[in-house]
Amino acid sequence: MLRSYSILRVAAIVVLLALAVGWAVPSVRAAEGPLAPVTLRCEYLHNPVGIDVRLPRFAWVLHHTERAQVQSAYQVLVASSPELLAQDKGDQWDSGKTASDDSTQVVYNGKPLESDHSYWWKVRYWDKEGNASDYSQPASFDVALLSRSEWKGQWIGGANLLRKEITLNSKVVRARAYVTALGYYELRINGEKIGRNNLDPAWTTYPARVLYSTYDLTSHLRAGKNALGAMIGGGWALLGAGDVPAPYKQPALLLQVNIELADGKTVQVASDNSWKVTPGPLVSDSVWDGEVYDARRELPGWDSPGFDDSAWSPAEVLEGSKGILSAQMMPPIRDVDTMVPVALTNPRPGVYVYDMGQNFSGWVDLHVSGPRGAQVQLRFAELLYDTGMINRENIRDAKSRDIYILRGEGEEHYHPRFTYHGFRYVELTGYPGTPSLDSLRGHVVHTAVETTGSFVASKPLLNQIHKIIRWSDLTNLASVPTDCDQRNERMGWMGDAQTSAEGMMLNFDMAAFYTNFLRDMRDVQGPDGTVTDTVPHRYGSRPADPAWGTAFPLICWYVYQQNGDRRILEENYDGLKKYVEFLRSRAPDNVLRYSYYGDWVALEKTPGAEVSDFYYYYDTLLLAKMAAALGNSADAAGYTHLATEIKDAFNHEFLDAKTGNYANGTQTANALPLFLDMVPKDQHAAVAGNLNNDILYRHDTHVTTGFIGIRYLMPLLTQLGDSYLAYDLAVQTTFPSWGYMAANGATTLWELWQNKTGPSMNSHDHHMMGSVDAWFYEALGGINVDPEHPGYRHIRIEPQVVRDLTSVSATVGSVRGKVTSAWSHEPGVITLQVDVPVNATASVSVPKDDEMTGITIHEGDRSVWEKGHFVEGAPGVTAGKLEGNRVIFEVGSGHYAFRVTGE
Ligand code: BGC
Repeated sequence: MLRSYSILRVAAIVVLLALAVGWAVPSVRAAEGPLAPVTLRCEYLHNPVGIDVRLPRFAWVLHHTERAQVQSAYQVLVASSPELLAQDKGDQWDSGKTASDDSTQVVYNGKPLESDHSYWWKVRYWDKEGNASDYSQPASFDVALLSRSEWKGQWIGGANLLRKEITLNSKVVRARAYVTALGYYELRINGEKIGRNNLDPAWTTYPARVLYSTYDLTSHLRAGKNALGAMIGGGWALLGAGDVPAPYKQPALLLQVNIELADGKTVQVASDNSWKVTPGPLVSDSVWDGEVYDARRELPGWDSPGFDDSAWSPAEVLEGSKGILSAQMMPPIRDVDTMVPVALTNPRPGVYVYDMGQNFSGWVDLHVSGPRGAQVQLRFAELLYDTGMINRENIRDAKSRDIYILRGEGEEHYHPRFTYHGFRYVELTGYPGTPSLDSLRGHVVHTAVETTGSFVASKPLLNQIHKIIRWSDLTNLASVPTDCDQRNERMGWMGDAQTSAEGMMLNFDMAAFYTNFLRDMRDVQGPDGTVTDTVPHRYGSRPADPAWGTAFPLICWYVYQQNGDRRILEENYDGLKKYVEFLRSRAPDNVLRYSYYGDWVALEKTPGAEVSDFYYYYDTLLLAKMAAALGNSADAAGYTHLATEIKDAFNHEFLDAKTGNYANGTQTANALPLFLDMVPKDQHAAVAGNLNNDILYRHDTHVTTGFIGIRYLMPLLTQLGDSYLAYDLAVQTTFPSWGYMAANGATTLWELWQNKTGPSMNSHDHHMMGSVDAWFYEALGGINVDPEHPGYRHIRIEPQVVRDLTSVSATVGSVRGKVTSAWSHEPGVITLQVDVPVNATASVSVPKDDEMTGITIHEGDRSVWEKGHFVEGAPGVTAGKLEGNRVIFEVGSGHYAFRVTGE
């Protein structure tokens, strides 16, 4: 201690002396060269408890104090104990120094992993000069149950409270619970809720697959008596819709706890008929309708040891699901935030209305005291009437209410467990006394994906739209991407999912979520290759509308592009091929015409056949690219050829060469083929011109598309070199536009461009129009994956400096680390700051402003572009060339600050 203090003192004196005599003092750094890898992930998850992948994939993020660095080799150690790992012993896997620049998607290659085991791992890397980093901090992963035969429990039910007591003869060394339900469950041990998951397990096609969660119970179980309890509810297992009946008649629980004791013994507890059940306080529960909870029926202590359950009945053994049991390997649904109401009104005697200030998914926590048996009702709404009363016309048949019956003792707290609501307003009736703002708190509940991206622009309206989109995206993540969160739907509508997917991936860490959703799609796929409009299937049709079914190939492609995930292609390729072959069977003359919804919610309708056929082409094209990526050259050639035939047939069927219009010439009709470059060369200018005229002159700079068309219109305009027009649409404030929604008080996106509040279809929380957020990141921010080098191995930075925008800053949390593009524009000067992660390279396209002539570009304090030529010398900047009115520099990893000035 003393010694290091004196060293510090000496160092301080040296620095002071150096400053005094004007020596250059190097900035103080934690270390030089390659820094220890960070953000270790296994199967996209941080320290996952419960994976069931035999060959999991690892990823890490690299930092280096120098620019233009890459990983030349790595060493991964996986150990069966943290102690061994600390001694640098990888008894499970020691990759040795492996020459490779892979820092993501690194596949485990050690001894077979065992079920119900924990593993610890770390990694170090060598940079391009061969300097080794330190090892990372340790990370861990737990393998759950790898085979069905390891499940000893039975599906049980009979009532919604279930319990069992066990006695353990010595201290617990390790304990894991594997738990799932048909419907929802809450697991409780010795009086405590276990974990922070809500509405667990994730919704799947239960007869085909049920997901289970794994919990570390080591610190919850103790020597002596322990009580295991579960509360279960129906969830989607008991909810039918459209033509699809509810798959089950009653909720069921499946559980197994594997315990290792200090005395060397192991104990296994499983759900079976030795459990006891009784109806608890939960009178009814439904995703759409809410809960009725009678606190008079609570049984204090039921989840603690010693409770007298002699009046309880034995659990019924149920058939349950015969489907595959898979570990839930994605972020769970959680209560992620608390909302304080912003206003409380009393529009009628006894009726209180809370304004939460924001539309969101979740529930409220009620604080109340009053007489036993008093009944309080909470009803949820997105809208208000002028009278101040809640307007629930757009919620359709969902009851969307919770009823709480007081136990009558002190202050009581209640929030529901097995339902959620989409709402901004809460109507409270039956409240004993006068409620205050503090009688309620909102809780935001959705799949707890991590925010990884950010977007900020100098134009406040863009930030507001971005915020509205983020809320809509998040509040529609309910283990599947839902269409809405309030009415009697809330389903995995595939069309909505595919249009928003890319934007979601730029904002949030979505890889595990979509990996799961793609498996959900495989689970609904029929032997004929068809998928369904909603996944899991409730409403909608089989086969899906092609603009909905395309979620299968498109989301797979986006996951591959964003993460360089080859396994996602391998896992889905056969299913995707079957899907495209199904489409082909419906298109004997190479035109796919069947359609149900087409460019849904459009202001000017486009023939559905054109939309379907566009996706037939798109899906086939992507399949060919995936085949190529997987090295299947026969399929790549075959589907490329088919795609060309589809394109020709598409042009033959829909293009009017005389007018330069596709189909009926709507914005969507012309935008779709332009977006995929399907338009014959000699017609391109005419079609693009028609589109431009339609937006600009026929509609005074407004869109007329539905949610399919808008997904492509914005990036297309940028492709066509007209980001100004795209920007004008983005900041439009009159009907129809995102700005119009914002100006009319939207805090989440509407389903329709129109401001409707009546009984028709008009949810006020749909995410699909939010596809424009991808354009914010990619065009305004300028951050783009290079399709030839997926997973941000090579990045294209190409910001659009437009109109009155004076700055944009965007960050994407890529698999390789943070990618940032931040620019500013003032007359005569453009600056562009870029962050490129280690192990990535980028082409940075630096724009000049129209008025500039004879530009000079500096990077930091070095000139990199002068008199029309690239100037070598700035570290990491290897080349520069002029393309149109932009200079494109090739750079390696690191932070760069470009500054463009005119003469
Ligand atoms: C949903 C949509 C969905 C559509 C299919 C609606 O009820 O809310 O967003 O894609 O049905 O046309």
